[in-house]
Amino acid sequence: MSDVVFQRCINPTCQATVAADDTSFSCPSCGGLLDVAYDWDRLTPPRSLREFEAKWSRRSDPLDFSGVWRFRELLPFAAPDKIMTIGEGQTILQKADIVGKYVGTNPGQLFLQYEGMNPSGSFKDNGMTAAFTHARMVGARRAACASTGNTSASLAVFCSATGLMRAIIFIGSGKISYGKLAQALDHGALTVQLAGDFDDAMQRVQQVSRKLGIYLVNSLNPFRLEGQKTIMFRVLEALHWEAPDWIVVPGGNLGNVSAFGKAFSELKHLGLLKRLPRIAVINAAGANTFSQLFDRFAVRWNAGKPDGNIIDGYYRALEAEKIRAATIASAIEINHPVNLPKALRALDLCDGVVRDVTDQEILDAKAKVGAGGLGCEPASAASVAGARKLIKEGVIAPSDRVVCILTGHQLKDPTATVAYHSTDQKTFDEVLGHRGVRRATYANRAVQVPNDLDEIIKAIELYS
Ligand code: F0G
Repeated sequence: MSDVVFQRCINPTCQATVAADDTSFSCPSCGGLLDVAYDWDRLTPPRSLREFEAKWSRRSDPLDFSGVWRFRELLPFAAPDKIMTIGEGQTILQKADIVGKYVGTNPGQLFLQYEGMNPSGSFKDNGMTAAFTHARMVGARRAACASTGNTSASLAVFCSATGLMRAIIFIGSGKISYGKLAQALDHGALTVQLAGDFDDAMQRVQQVSRKLGIYLVNSLNPFRLEGQKTIMFRVLEALHWEAPDWIVVPGGNLGNVSAFGKAFSELKHLGLLKRLPRIAVINAAGANTFSQLFDRFAVRWNAGKPDGNIIDGYYRALEAEKIRAATIASAIEINHPVNLPKALRALDLCDGVVRDVTDQEILDAKAKVGAGGLGCEPASAASVAGARKLIKEGVIAPSDRVVCILTGHQLKDPTATVAYHSTDQKTFDEVLGHRGVRRATYANRAVQVPNDLDEIIKAIELYS
C-alpha cells in the first residue's frame, strides 16, 4: 500500500514520488521542486471549514492554541505527539481604513494580515514549526538555513526554545538588519557571515547541508510551506470563510506565494472553498526577477513547462552585467528566488499579477502603515505600496476586498525607520539616499527642545 503522506515532484510530466522522511528536498529524477502530497481519500479532512471554529474552545491544548496546528487536518503529515509548537500563528487580520485611504480602497475594504505578532516577529514561524516538526520526525540534530534575517531568527528561536537542535545560519555579510542579527546572536545560533549576499548564501547552505547531512529549513523544504498555508486559513477564518478579492504579498524567495497557491489548490480540490482570491506578488524594484520574468518576459507556468530558456537567459544576463539584488527592503533582497516554478503555478491558479515598487514607495507605504496602526518592516510594506499601484492602474478596483500581508514586525529594522523620520540629513543620506529615496513624505520628525519648561510647553502647544 502506498503512503498516505509523501513528497511529489511538481513537474506534471515527472511527478516522481519520494518518501515523506526524505530530506534531500529535490526531485531525484528531474531535480525539480517537491510538494508534500496527501492521499486525501485515506485521511479525514474537514467537510466544512467551519469545523475549525470548534478549536477555539479547546485552546488549553497547545495544538489547538497554535494558529498553525489548529488547522492540522489540512497539513496532516505529523502525528500530534511529534508536533513542535511554540505558540506561533496568533496573528490577526486588521481592518485598516486609514491605510486603505492611502491605498485607494473604499472604506472597510482593506485588511492587513499582521504576521509580525509571531514569537520571532515574522511569518516565518508558521513554516518553521512545520519544518522543525519534520526535522524532529527524521531525527535531525542540526538545522541550517540561508537567510535575509527572518528565517534565521525563527530557526534560532525554535532551537533555543526547544533545546532540541543546533541552529546554523548563513547570512550575507552586512546584509541583514540589526533587529534580525540581534535575534540570531541572542538565541545562540551558529552565525556564519558569508562574504556575499543571500543568493550566494543560499547556494552554499545547500552544498554544506548535503555534505554534512544537516537538515535544511529554507523554503525549498516543502514541509516549511505546509505551515505557511495556514496564513491563508487564518485570513479566511477572519473573513468568515469567504475569500477576499485580492491577496497582496511581498515576494522574495517566493515561498509564501507558493504556499498560498497550494493552500487554495487543496481547498478547491477538497470542495472547501468555491471562489479563490486573486494573488498579487510585489517585488522591490532593486530585486525584481519575478516581475521581470512574469511581466516583461511573459514567463508563465504553462502547464508545468515554464520557458527555461528565457529564465536561464535572464540569470545569465544578471551574471554578465554583475547585477546584484539591492533594496532597503533587505528581507526581499533576492535575485534568484528558489521557488520560482511553484510561484508561477500559484499565479496560474489564482489569476495572479506581479509588480515591483521602488524603495521610495516602500518607505512611504511603511510610514503610512505605522501611522495607521500596526507597524511593519520595509519588505512587508511592499504589499501596501503594490496594492496602491494596482489600484492606480485599475487592476484592483476600489470596491474590491484586499488583504495585504504584513510579513514582519516594525522592530526588525529600526535603522530604516529612524533614518526615514530623522531630522539629520546625514543619517537620511547614509541609509536611504544611495537607495534612490529622495523624500520622507510622511516623516514624523522628533521636536528638538532645550531643557526648559516654558520652551517645552511652547513646543507641545505649537505641534499638538
Ligand atoms: N517579508 C519578509 C519580512 C521576509 O523576511 C521575507 C523573506 C519575505 C517577505 C519574502 O517571502 O521568500 O516567501 O517570498 N525572508 C527570507 C528570510 C528570505 O531569509 O528571512 P518569500
